[in-house]
Amino acid sequence: MIAASTLQLASNENPLGMPPAARRAAAEALDTSDRYPDAAGTQLRAALAQKLGVPAEWIVLGSGSSEILTLAALAFVQPGEGVVSSQYGFLVYAQAARLAHGRHDIVAAKDFGHDLPAMLKAIDERTRLVFVANPNNPTGSFLRGGELLPFLEQVPAHAVVLLDEAYTEYLTPGQRYDSMGWARRFPNLLVARTFSKAFGLAGLRVGYGVGQPALMARLNALRPRYNITTPALAAAAAALADEDFQARSFALNLQGREQLARGAAELGLRSLPSAGNFVMLEVGDAAGVHSALAGQGILVATLEAYGLPRWLRISVGLPEQNTRVLEALAALPPAST
Ligand SMILES: Cc1ncc(COP(=O)(O)O)c(C=O)c1O
Repeated sequence: MIAASTLQLASNENPLGMPPAARRAAAEALDTSDRYPDAAGTQLRAALAQKLGVPAEWIVLGSGSSEILTLAALAFVQPGEGVVSSQYGFLVYAQAARLAHGRHDIVAAKDFGHDLPAMLKAIDERTRLVFVANPNNPTGSFLRGGELLPFLEQVPAHAVVLLDEAYTEYLTPGQRYDSMGWARRFPNLLVARTFSKAFGLAGLRVGYGVGQPALMARLNALRPRYNITTPALAAAAAALADEDFQARSFALNLQGREQLARGAAELGLRSLPSAGNFVMLEVGDAAGVHSALAGQGILVATLEAYGLPRWLRISVGLPEQNTRVLEALAALPPAST
């Protein structure tokens, strides 16, 4: 149990919390929650289809996008077949590969991000699934559309590319690219997105995948029928409609990310440029700094599981929360950083 006073900057949630309209919609949906949810998520999928400009049949809902990632591995990878991802990739990719009893080929990162040419080389005739996160968690690295498109053009048809866009709403207008157009063009592309980050619904567990009907049919065949609860469906539809909340989340994140990066630089700490709602800082004894911060009621993420024992990942908070974590870092004895 985490105390209410704890500052949670460990899981890349939205510091604005849940959009009020989503909270109201979830509460109202409790009235009908004695019944099973709409297994097809008709209303939410229709709203997403309209927003994304793809048919509703191209959208599969997941209990968080994590479920889309694992369903994809189970749907496309037979035991012994290959899964390719990058070093410092999201931990669920390895878990998904294990669940499918696949062979997981992890390609060395380049400058903490995906090395797309090396990933292409790692794809062989047994590869069935390739995970690419853009932006990537935990490093925050970003691939431009102009880098991704030639990659997609070269991935052989027998491998599905899962483009994980969990943080896509945080991209600046200049960084955005048309992955929905790519889904129309490439039958082997599956785009995954989530309501956990910019939409503020991490605890309600809603994500989705977008791709052509043949791909989606394979995911749907494995999807648990009632995987999204009635309150979660209602909240997600309300959050999707709240464009003002999305704009505020985006602006707050941009400002907060700069605040953290600037503050870290002033402390002499290296940070990586991030396109997400978090920043990775090199603090040296990360486990020690993590527990010192925890002692002051500030939770950030250690990255040992990613092979990054000298780094911490700090989620962007409200301005005063960012100040609090920077002040706590500044007050640490020099030996610990
Ligand atoms: C890169 C990436 N993909 C997917 C997810 C999955 O989030 P969720 O299952 O909450 O949608 C996360 C969450 O941290 C993430 O960082």
